[in-house]
This record gives sequence, structure tokens and C-alpha cells, in this order.
Amino acid sequence: MPAKVDMDKIVSLCKRRGLIFPSSEIYGGLASCWDYGPMGVELKRNVRDAWWKAIVHERDDVVGLDTSIMMHPGVWAASGHIDSFTDPLVECKSCHLRWRADAVEGKRCPKCGGELTEPRMFNLMFKTSMGPVEEEASTVYLRPETAQGIFVNFDNVITTSRKKLPLGIAQIGKSFRNEITPGNFVFRTREFEHMELEYFVKPGTDEKWLDYWVKERFDWYVRLGIRKENLRLRQHGKDELAHYARDCYDIEYLFPMGWSELEGIANRGDFDLIQHAKCSGRELIYYDAEAGEKYIPYVIEPSAGVDRSVLAFLIDAYDEEEVEGEKRTLLHLHRGLAPVKVAVLPLSRNEKLTPLAKEVFNKLCTNFVTDYDDSQSIGRRYRRQDEIGTPFCVTIDFESLEDKQVTIRERDSLAQIRVPMEELGKILEAKLEGEAFDASPLWATREK
Ligand code: GAP
Repeated sequence: MPAKVDMDKIVSLCKRRGLIFPSSEIYGGLASCWDYGPMGVELKRNVRDAWWKAIVHERDDVVGLDTSIMMHPGVWAASGHIDSFTDPLVECKSCHLRWRADAVEGKRCPKCGGELTEPRMFNLMFKTSMGPVEEEASTVYLRPETAQGIFVNFDNVITTSRKKLPLGIAQIGKSFRNEITPGNFVFRTREFEHMELEYFVKPGTDEKWLDYWVKERFDWYVRLGIRKENLRLRQHGKDELAHYARDCYDIEYLFPMGWSELEGIANRGDFDLIQHAKCSGRELIYYDAEAGEKYIPYVIEPSAGVDRSVLAFLIDAYDEEEVEGEKRTLLHLHRGLAPVKVAVLPLSRNEKLTPLAKEVFNKLCTNFVTDYDDSQSIGRRYRRQDEIGTPFCVTIDFESLEDKQVTIRERDSLAQIRVPMEELGKILEAKLEGEAFDASPLWATREK
């Protein structure tokens, strides 16, 4: 059972192993902005791909979309973001630190004890100007959610895809929020990536579809390795529902700072399509030719954050154990999420071993994300791969030169099997698809 971990250990592992770095670090960093390193970019891509596969590719009732970050300002007036996408802000009259009013107890600054101002509503959207001459340029916003790009394209997608309802439109992309109190590593940042599905349904079937998507999304995290006991569902109270929502469930994860939202699944009703129809003057309705009826669809919206999911997967996978008197830190990442699938490790940097090891690497890297590492001792190289969650290491030793066999070592059990080089690709493919790592007693040895 993996150990409970505090956030500092995750931040430190991410820095040490090239997963996530503070943004603009050589200039002292930029608050709440983070850069994904060589391992992080692979992990993040795998999370996105797993979502896209489950939501778009494995279904025939969902299509994808990729809309622009800057949109007509009318979109945000219609959606209610200009008026309602606000948090209550208080400022310390002494040190001028700003706080979310609902995150502070009493009327004193948590940092210096100074008096706080009365709360005022602070809009979380970032503004910029579009056009070459600033005075004449129009104000535009960086989108705070990808959802609106989907709503304003509803008619385009319905008329071009020729699909019937229920129909989902999915999008992954950057969103921006000028959060008053970002923090907890990549949990809450001002620039992040959304994975959003707007699932359009016939009114009256919306409650059933909300239940369906809550279950689907919960199960997705479990299928990708998050332990069930670290996930829970929480229905929003009537007083906390967003301005557009009729009902909403949060999937919460037990982060080191406590139970917090991982994903929200909302019933947005017909709020968005009605608003955009009213403000744009374009009719946004669905015509069901078979039933001969017209209606404005309701929308069920599972909305997740890529970065927050990456964080949950990292925390849940983190483990420390003792192997023969030495501490081993490892990530039990699901093999589909692991940044590197296979590491090729020649026993030593030797002129005879290198060509064979390179040959193995060149074959594997066309099928799997493969790492080649011949620096330092084999033990240290195993530890490095364990820390980024590489499921399989392939070792090439001096016997390999004679018998053309190599050793595969499995990350979690540390079991090893010796296999013919010719069959290596096929064997790894099966193991990466989930075949048990069945180390035969003849070959299996615990790593020494
Ligand atoms: N379109 C609905 C919507 O955006 P949300 O609950 O505000 O709903 C959905 O956001 C998900 O996006 C959250 O559950 C979280 O995973 C992610 N998210 C929201 N704000 C974030 C932030 N500032 N930093 C990182 N992730 C964020």
C-alpha cells in the first residue's frame, strides 16, 4: 500500500526527475506558473490522450473540437462571465496582500494581522487588447473555460456532423483565471489546461445522463490507477451552484491538503444555448427529424483539469519502500500514463555491449517511448527509472552477446525474466497491454 505523501516530496521529485519545473526559474520564478519538463510533457500528454480516447475515440456519440482562446467579447457577456465570474476579494491595509474573503476567518490579515478591507467582487478573467494600436484596440479576454467555444459552435457541429442527439462535443485546451489565491503546486494555477465535454441531451433525460457521466468519470480515474478510497463524490448544495448550473457533483480526491475538487460534472440545462441565441440573434435549437420535434437541448458537462489530474495521478502513484536495506522511491503509475514505457540499460558502457544495446533501443523506440541510459551503476539507473514510473527495464549483459537474450525487470514486483531478443518487442507489447508479468520460477530472480 503506497505511503501517504506530502506535497513537498512530490514537488521535489518533479524537479529532480524533470517532470515539472517552476516557470521562468532563472528569473526567480513566476507565481503559480509551472513548466512541464521532458518527463512531465510525456505524462501530461498521456493523461490528455487517455481522456480523448475514452471520451471521443471509443464512442460514436462524441466528436472533438479545438476552438480559439480569444473569442468575441460578446461570448463572455452572454455566458455570464463578465458579471458573475468573480470571487470576493479583501486586501490587507498594512501589507497589501490580497485574499479570497471566503478563505479568511475574521477581519484580520492571516499574514501580518493587519486590518482587512470590506470584500469587493473581483473578476477572474484576464484581459488583453486585440489590434496593433493599443488605444484603438478592443478589449478581449483569455478564455476562463473551453466550454463556451463549444456552445458557440453547436450549430456548426450539428449541421456538419449529421449526428443525432444525445451528442457530445469535447475539447482540451488552455484556460486562464486570475485566481486570487493560487497554490498547492499545480492544483490551482492561473494558466491551466481543461478537458471538457458538453453532452447535449433531450430535456427530461438530463438527470439520467448526469448520473451516467458522474459514474463514467469516476470509473475513468479508477481504471487509470487511482485508489477508490482516495476518491469520493460530493453533490453541490443549492447555495454553491454556479450561475449556470441546475445540479453539480464534484469528484473529490484526497490531496495532501485534504479532500478537494478533482473534476466537476454539472447539469447546465439550456442556460448557455438560450443565452447565446438571445445575444447573437442566431437560433440554437435541435430539430429531431424522426420525431418531428424541435427543442433546445440540455447540457451535461464533465469538466476536468489536465494539471490537477496529473497531480492526483502522481500523488496516488508515489511510494517509498525498503529493498534490501535501501530506500526505494517509485511511482506505481498506470503503464498507459508512465512517461517512459521501457528503459534500455546496458550493464556497463562497454564497446562490445553498446552496439547491441543501441540495436535493441533502435528497434523498441519505434513502438514505445523508450529511454536509453548507460551512465552510472545499474542500481542507480534502476532507481531513476523507478522514480519516473517506468514499467519495464531491459538489461543487456555480457551473456546477451552470446545467447542473444536480455533481461526484463518489472517495476513494482522487481521480478525479472530473461527473454530472446527477437521476441522482446512482442513480449513488451503484451505486458504493456496488461498481460501479467508471470516470472517463471526458472528465470525469475528478485533483483539483487
Ligand atoms: N466549465 C466548467 C468549469 O470550468 P470548474 O469547476 O471551474 O468548471 C473544472 O473547473 C475543473 O478545472 C476543476 O475541477 C479543476 O480540475 C480544473 N481547474 C479549475 N480551475 C483551475 C485552476 N485555477 N488551476 C488548475 N485547475 C483548475
